[in-house]
Amino acid sequence: MPTDKEFDRRTTLSLAATAAVCVTAGTLIVPPPAFAEAKKQESEDTSANEDMMREHGVLRRILILYREVAPTLHAQATRIDANAIHNVAELFQQFGEQYHEEKLEEQYVFPAMRKAGGDSTALLDVLVEQHRRGREITDYILDATRNGVLATASTHDLARAMVSFARMYEAHAAYEDTIVFPWLKKTMPKAQYDDLSEKFEEIEREQFGTDGFDMAVKKVAEAERALGIPDLAMLTAPSPGRHG
Ligand SMILES: [Fe+2]
Ligand SMILES: [Fe+2]
Repeated sequence: MPTDKEFDRRTTLSLAATAAVCVTAGTLIVPPPAFAEAKKQESEDTSANEDMMREHGVLRRILILYREVAPTLHAQATRIDANAIHNVAELFQQFGEQYHEEKLEEQYVFPAMRKAGGDSTALLDVLVEQHRRGREITDYILDATRNGVLATASTHDLARAMVSFARMYEAHAAYEDTIVFPWLKKTMPKAQYDDLSEKFEEIEREQFGTDGFDMAVKKVAEAERALGIPDLAMLTAPSPGRHG
């Protein structure tokens, strides 16, 4: 039995298909509201994998910030905006740990893979352990930058913690992107996968009361500006042989 939501979605898509035929036949100049609404809905829908992978994109931008500010933290910590680091660590905690990891991966994705058994168990154990270690490091970063003040005695430890976290989580997200998420899409029956995609959108709305992804991209961009990486061009590599 389809759920009410599923039924609404199917009805909307079916209306869209009908309207599309009318447009093709040249009988309509302006798309009817149901068609326009269905197209809007379609473009807003994202699959479970697309959702999780673009969330990884936000988290990677935070990891880039961690790595980029670490040398300055070692050399001249007073130049660093501790408040911006605190804010971005808080974003990682809320968007990465409390939402992406706890609500999606640990509640839905990992249990489905674990249930299927096989060779994946060892990988899942490592991924869960890395979630745990990541939370420990985020707590440490939040403590070290509390009230926008750098705990000067620990700036080197803070820089090292940020770099090691970035190293771990880059690999973590890459393994999920290339092993776990493709497995999910390939193995899960389509109807169940579609339900999961809707469930993920519902959780996102519940958690953030709005589009969590848009909110996170905005916040990470603010932190990039505050920490001296206002645009992507700054990260373009020099020509070979022109380093330093
Ligand atoms: Fe994860
Ligand atoms: Fe993940």
